[in-house]
Amino acid sequence: MLIDTYGRVATDLRVSLTDRCNLRCTYCMPEEGLQWLAKPDLLTDDEIVRLITIAVRDLGIEEVRFTGGEPLLRPGLPGIVERVAALTPRPQMSLTTNGIGLQRTAAALRDAGLDRVNVSLDTLRPEVFQALTRRKRHDDVLRGLDAARAAGLTPVKVNAVLMPGLNDDEAPDLLAWAIAHDYELRFIEQMPLDAQHGWKRDGMITAGDILTSLRTRFTLTPEGQEERGSAPAERWLVDGGPHRVGVIASVTRPFCRACDRTRLTADGQIRTCLFATEETDLRTALRSGAPDDEIARLWETAMWGKKAGSGLDDPSFLQPERPMSSIGG
Ligand code: GTP
Ligand code: 5AD
Ligand code: SF4
Repeated sequence: MLIDTYGRVATDLRVSLTDRCNLRCTYCMPEEGLQWLAKPDLLTDDEIVRLITIAVRDLGIEEVRFTGGEPLLRPGLPGIVERVAALTPRPQMSLTTNGIGLQRTAAALRDAGLDRVNVSLDTLRPEVFQALTRRKRHDDVLRGLDAARAAGLTPVKVNAVLMPGLNDDEAPDLLAWAIAHDYELRFIEQMPLDAQHGWKRDGMITAGDILTSLRTRFTLTPEGQEERGSAPAERWLVDGGPHRVGVIASVTRPFCRACDRTRLTADGQIRTCLFATEETDLRTALRSGAPDDEIARLWETAMWGKKAGSGLDDPSFLQPERPMSSIGG
């Protein structure tokens, strides 16, 4: 069991499959991209499946989420999904993607055993999409979303980050569009995890701002705490339901006390938190022939070191060296 000193139990494993991405979102990475991880440093598909197997069989992991960078850029993804789906007990499996390429792959991923997807889309306006992501791929994302719903990778959730002066006026339009297409929309507060270290607390759009903007057009009723469980999103019923909208307010309303996550990076490091400053190297252990039980003990010890919270409000807060694209969102 992956328990920490605060009594939290990690049952949700987030696996970053690559640090590469085909977009260049301004709140994530610079125009020129980043120094990508070298191929030999990446876990192989077999190594990933082995670690997930240990996590599910021996450590109590019930849900596996594949993230990136952009996880659809990993050619072995359908094979990994298929092998994880064959585990006992079979974990829930989901994918967080920017949606590019999903049109081609949604049905195959479902057939391989994927349960659902979360797709990032910050704007309904193609020109704003280009300004935010520095790429002309808006249409691809919309087609990917359609394909995901058609393939039954539901509920399809849409993640949106609002940036001042770019798309911060779009919250109500995004919600009306999501309801019309039967996607569950969640807004994410911008976090200090960008490679350029450009985040400023007084420059970000807060959950409060988002709710005020949504309430100009919708009536929002808070969903009970019980329904939330360990989910990062606080949710509201829109106009009495059945549709909902979520806000992931990691900065202004952190949910660390209920956190049930552990993370594996594409180069085989365990992170106990998005904001962790230390990592535990499972890749070296794997490659030096450590047996499963030794890997499991290393993972348990890593989680024992999980901090109470992100530390964002501490005066001494330091942004982690790894950017979001290499940690996995
Ligand atoms: P589901 O609601 O089960 O689909 O999962 P999710 O919301 O965790 O999935 P997703 O990958 O779409 O995550 C959405 C966003 O939540 C991420 O991009 C992060 O911004 C935020 N998030 C996810 N995990 C953590 C975490 O451990 N800590 C914090 N602070 N934020 C997180
Ligand atoms: N702050 C908040 N969300 C971010 N994402 C990427 N970088 C950041 C950041 N600095 C979002 C993406 C995607 C999810 C995985 O994380 O938009 O929806
Ligand atoms: Fe790519 Fe996601 Fe970063 Fe955008 S936020 S550049 S989609 S990794």
